[in-house]
Amino acid sequence: MKRFFVTGTDTGVGKTLVSGALLAELESNGLEPRAFKPYESGGVGDAEFLRRRAGARQDLDEVCVARFRAPLAPGVAAELERRPVSFAKVRRHLERAMGACAVVEGAGGLLVPLDGRHDVADLAQALQLPVVLVGRAGLGTLNHVGLSLAELARRKLPVAAVVLVQSVRGVDASVEHNVRWLERRHPGVRVLGPVGFHAHPARRLAAARRVVAGLAKG
Ligand SMILES: Nc1ncnc2c1ncn2[C@@H]1O[C@H](COP(=O)(O)OP(=O)(O)O)[C@@H](O)[C@H]1O
Ligand SMILES: [Mg+2]
Repeated sequence: MKRFFVTGTDTGVGKTLVSGALLAELESNGLEPRAFKPYESGGVGDAEFLRRRAGARQDLDEVCVARFRAPLAPGVAAELERRPVSFAKVRRHLERAMGACAVVEGAGGLLVPLDGRHDVADLAQALQLPVVLVGRAGLGTLNHVGLSLAELARRKLPVAAVVLVQSVRGVDASVEHNVRWLERRHPGVRVLGPVGFHAHPARRLAAARRVVAGLAKG
């Protein structure tokens, strides 16, 4: 069984890049992975990107079940657009469709609402998948990653790895210390990266694939 739930310390930190890189690695290892972006707001860009990285064998409807027009947290958009989505239904869909090899990308971070009663961490918990936590390489990440790991520990969710991504241009002085300090503060947690900043999408994906290759094999 090779399944991952990819979440992040925030939106825009590189979750989709890391999810896509994992799928591409699993795919090139011959595992026929399934991609999921169960909740997506403001278009289906992530779902389509992931579908392709997984070998484009799935329908977009399988990849993404809950879509919202507004670029807002899914729970907020659902309420605004008066389109409630049943958490139980999404959960059942994923449980049925995941198969032996799957990557599920959450939305935003762990405490982002999916509806009035559930958040992203509830979904990871319901599915019982090992979590890949994506964080921004740079100043602030020890705090953001630490807070997210604390929430994962509180919920007894297993952490497959923390992956750092330099999603914005320019290196600050903290980057060279990030990995070492995260490992020191969170013994037993595997910390990967950083994936460097690459303006070119193909280079960016290649860099991310190198960083997560071990996870897709291991
Ligand atoms: N290593 C990188 N180099 C350059 N740009 C990046 C890198 N990682 C992410 N980005 C850019 O940052 C933005 C957010 O990345 P994405 O993977 O979509 O994050 P998330 O899924 O967490 O919202 C995207 O526009 C992406 O192109
Ligand atoms: Mg994304």
